[in-house]
Amino acid sequence: MDTKGFYQPVTAEILEALQRIAGPGAVLTDPEKLEAYSHDETDAREYGRMPEAVVLPRNTAEVAEIVKLANREKIPITPRGAGSGLSGGAIPEYGGIVLSLERMNRLLELDEENMVAVAETGMVTNDFARAVEERGLFFAGYPMSLQTCLLGGNIAENAGGGKAVKYGVTGRYILGLELVTPRGDIVELGGKILKDVSGYDLKSLVIGSEGTLGIVTKAIIRLIGYPADKSDLLVLFKTPQEAINLVPLILSRGLTPTSIEFMDRLSIVTSCRYLNESLPYENAGAMLLIELDGVNPGQIERDLIETGKLCESRGALEVYVAEDRNNIERIWNVRRNIAEAFKVFSPVQSVEDIVVPISRIPFMISELERLGKKYGMSIPCYGHAGDGNLHATLVKESAMGEAEWKRNEAACLAELYRITAGAGGKISGEHGIGIKRREHLKSLISPAELELMQGIKQAWDPNNIMNPGKIFNIP
Ligand code: LAC
Ligand code: ZN
Repeated sequence: MDTKGFYQPVTAEILEALQRIAGPGAVLTDPEKLEAYSHDETDAREYGRMPEAVVLPRNTAEVAEIVKLANREKIPITPRGAGSGLSGGAIPEYGGIVLSLERMNRLLELDEENMVAVAETGMVTNDFARAVEERGLFFAGYPMSLQTCLLGGNIAENAGGGKAVKYGVTGRYILGLELVTPRGDIVELGGKILKDVSGYDLKSLVIGSEGTLGIVTKAIIRLIGYPADKSDLLVLFKTPQEAINLVPLILSRGLTPTSIEFMDRLSIVTSCRYLNESLPYENAGAMLLIELDGVNPGQIERDLIETGKLCESRGALEVYVAEDRNNIERIWNVRRNIAEAFKVFSPVQSVEDIVVPISRIPFMISELERLGKKYGMSIPCYGHAGDGNLHATLVKESAMGEAEWKRNEAACLAELYRITAGAGGKISGEHGIGIKRREHLKSLISPAELELMQGIKQAWDPNNIMNPGKIFNIP
């Protein structure tokens, strides 16, 4: 899209103004340094785009000044965490300024009386989780890419991950936000409180809005007691269908695992190969990784035995118990690295993020098999079976030409998304719409719903400078 006349360039004067606000060292323009801010974990060849400048502010006041400047001068501004996103949310599609939160990484307060912590959103999620863990407290809302991702990115995408089946997603733990609006105002939403019906719930609107409604600079985060004990079951099945059939059975028994993760054979094999790891998958077509945690070891033990027996009674090939931390970590490492492994071994691919009611997962798995055959590609699948969120991954076979792949990928995705919607699901559970899925969103929600969403964007960001082009195209 031609945006000339709509957005203004980052001129020498603008750079000077940015340096006056954030300091000379905090404004990057060297193309070698900018490159790292031009893509996320989506394919850089397809989605990457260079910013004109990157700014690294140190505090909220600087963020507000930068946003005011961008809004006044009509320069697009793209907030950025660690760039570990999977839908293009942090890519500066229209150039302009990338505002990286990486220097705003302090834990500001650990308020044990209220069981909350206040942190700047440039803090690495894992650093935050470790800091509260030292006090015996737990941040339950953190996702798979925990080693690298930042709190701000988790909030922007309302990240999910492996623990959602028991603990829910990031938003459940965000009690309050400090937000710099697209006009550069600083507002405090929510607080150290669990209830709030004082007007519209703007905090929840911001969480998951993919950085399109402002820049979250601080968060008040709810903590719970650290679940001191955990155990994992690795359960092997002959077919994906058999594995998936167990999910509603486990949940309907009143057992509440922390995680019920699903991996099909190709996902396991690829990740093991990437990590040079071995799991006992020889005859298995699929696996469930089931984790139980809590404060009562006796209860975990009982639930573990019951879950294991249930799996055996429904045709599991093997049930392995992993109680020592080392083994648990090894198995989770295989699960956590599947996306990365496919990226390395099958770089031409599309990692998807559909979510359906859990009773429809078996149907979706058989549809994936059908779509794979129809479009001549393999579609390995793994994900968070306990909450219906599946990372089906469309992978190009080497025999298929690039042009044919592009056509088949587009047609396959359109069909997959239609089937997902028909099954009562959504096209993204935790990765977001970003650039990648915006064309599809338009055709899958009603015109009335789309209009409501765009009306909100227009009211908050009349100049459309805040992360433009994400969720919907710019008007
Ligand atoms: C995962 C990422 C891809 O679940 O969401 O591994
Ligand atoms: Zn995931």
